[in-house]
Amino acid sequence: MTNEKCIMIKKPKIFISGVAGFLGSHLADTFIADGYKVVGCDSLIGGYLDNVPSEVEFYQYDLNFHNSIVKITKDCDIIFHCAATAYEGLSVFSPFFITKNIIQSTVSLITAAIANKAKRFVFCSSMARYGTQDTVPFTEDMTPKPQDPYGIGKHSSEMFLKNLCDIHGMEYVIAVPHNIIGPRQKYDDPYRNVASIMINLMLQGRQPIIYGDGEQKRCFSFIQDDIDILTRLAFDDKAVGEVINIGPDDEFVTINQLAQTIADLLDFKLEPIYKRSRPQEVLLANCSANKARKMFGYAPSIKLQDGLKSMIDHIKNRGTKKFKYHLDLEIINEKTPETWKDRLF
Ligand SMILES: NC(=O)c1ccc[n+]([C@@H]2O[C@H](COP(=O)([O-])OP(=O)(O)OC[C@H]3O[C@@H](n4cnc5c(N)ncnc54)[C@H](O)[C@@H]3O)[C@@H](O)[C@H]2O)c1
Repeated sequence: MTNEKCIMIKKPKIFISGVAGFLGSHLADTFIADGYKVVGCDSLIGGYLDNVPSEVEFYQYDLNFHNSIVKITKDCDIIFHCAATAYEGLSVFSPFFITKNIIQSTVSLITAAIANKAKRFVFCSSMARYGTQDTVPFTEDMTPKPQDPYGIGKHSSEMFLKNLCDIHGMEYVIAVPHNIIGPRQKYDDPYRNVASIMINLMLQGRQPIIYGDGEQKRCFSFIQDDIDILTRLAFDDKAVGEVINIGPDDEFVTINQLAQTIADLLDFKLEPIYKRSRPQEVLLANCSANKARKMFGYAPSIKLQDGLKSMIDHIKNRGTKKFKYHLDLEIINEKTPETWKDRLF
């Protein structure tokens, strides 16, 4: 044995909240493949337990169990906060539930991260933070004007994050993913994930339900196109203190076109059922990807049709599922969509 010094460089340990969810589980896969140790939690109010990669040190905890969260985030260097009840439409009818699982849960995790001296906190916000603006696409420099409790919750959480990080000296990044789709997304949830709901329905020979006239436009992005830039937000110094939209801005489709594309892939005769629009639904929603392009060379390549095809294969493999009305409606009145009130899915 020589007296050469052996220098071990410790790889950062990463904590992912919402690791049984769609983005959280894909992030965990990528970090694990890159050799990082990943600790994660999920309350399983959404997501699927079998989304969690086996290598993750997993805890089935609600972020609102603050003392437990302080314990499991100990020694974690990077905190990736994906957990949320990301229900924009439902938030208008269940604002108390949404506030607890967007704002309170986020403050619990930020506090634990700071108490444990984590280096960086990456927060998954939402394009709901922008609300209705005078122009589209939404750019990161626009003043947020959220229109519903979910958007207000996401923006308030950003303000808590910035405030506490400025005071206590933790790095932060605000990611704004938008309409990301792909395998592992929950597809038996009647409250969100339009593409997955449509696939689950059509595979069961059932017609999709569309709110309004279906001409509201969205720009969907596929998980494999976004995962690289998301993981870079954990380490890249350029990202610190930034708000960054994650998702493409070049394949704008209406909900009617989305339904037709899925129907074509499934060779399904489409006759959508139209229902009254949901309150506060933003008709034209799209984010600019210019900042992500400039800072990180963001260049999505997967076409919507190909992304949808892989989702269809995934749902076929796992099997179609009955929809579960697992969340309470706190306000039921004439504005509450019938799809939820009368459990139409
Ligand atoms: N996927 C998208 O297109 C998209 C778009 C905009 C914003 N986002 C944001 O990105 C994040 C991840 O989104 P996703 O699509 O993976 O959602 P998801 O619903 O698949 O995953 C979220 C996970 O968080 C868990 N969770 C919820 N409340 C919790 C709590 N209090 N404690 C512990 N776990 C809890 C759920 O059980 C679920 O597994 C969310 O914050 C969401 O608001 C995603």
